[in-house]
Amino acid sequence: MSPAANRRPEWREEETEGLKKQILWISSSYMKRRSFITTASSIAVGSLVTTSSVRAEIVLPALPYAPAALEPHIDAETMSIHHDKHHASYIAKLNDALNALGKSDANAQDLIKDISALPVDQQMAVRNNGGGHVNHSMFWQWMAPAGSGPSGPEGALAVKLQSTFGSIEDFKKRFGEAASKRFGSGWAWLIVKADGKLAVTSTANQDNPTMKGVVPDADLGTPILGLDVWEHAYYLKYRNKRPDYITAWWNVVNWAQVAKDAATAKI
Ligand SMILES: [Fe+2]
Repeated sequence: MSPAANRRPEWREEETEGLKKQILWISSSYMKRRSFITTASSIAVGSLVTTSSVRAEIVLPALPYAPAALEPHIDAETMSIHHDKHHASYIAKLNDALNALGKSDANAQDLIKDISALPVDQQMAVRNNGGGHVNHSMFWQWMAPAGSGPSGPEGALAVKLQSTFGSIEDFKKRFGEAASKRFGSGWAWLIVKADGKLAVTSTANQDNPTMKGVVPDADLGTPILGLDVWEHAYYLKYRNKRPDYITAWWNVVNWAQVAKDAATAKI
């Protein structure tokens, strides 16, 4: 392979009939190595336009454990489908939306905080799929194999949960109710509000507690624990018994991660 064929993409200026254009030149061999770049060998981007043709490339984060690692509480097949199919689908659709918006390098967590700032025709796509990606990325981290870490909240988080809800058991009861009473698909959350207080909330579909203008102001905050109560999260094993899934899920909560997120949110 010649050195020229390996050259990185570069902007070149060309003038045709008095019209100046900036052309992004990409060698075909470079494209094979960098599949996120569009398939044309050179892309005219218009007169004096410097818009990049690089496509959005949010990738599916790997599960931090094997799909079977949460058994018997959450089965391997559910985890595989949930991660490899559902989460992957949110990402594919989010990338489509980002490309339509020309925001190939957008940070999904930042983007979903202000959905109303986006063009109306892409708001729902970002809300559903950006939310889906962000929610699931955190959800995988909030779980760990049973017995691999603390069995419950400790330290400052435990103290704050007790002072807010009365006891750890009362917090779990409140959270479980939010999860079981969520009509249809959605999430239950433990959030840290702007004033530093903890609260248990619930959102529909893939809404996230950071979504201003989507979530009621009183329910806005930084999520430090969340439970997916979409049927795709439990139906293979628990069928219609969502409360049994919620009860089992407490066995695989990654309290070390929750404590870390609580510290970051400055409880
Ligand atoms: Fe899910």
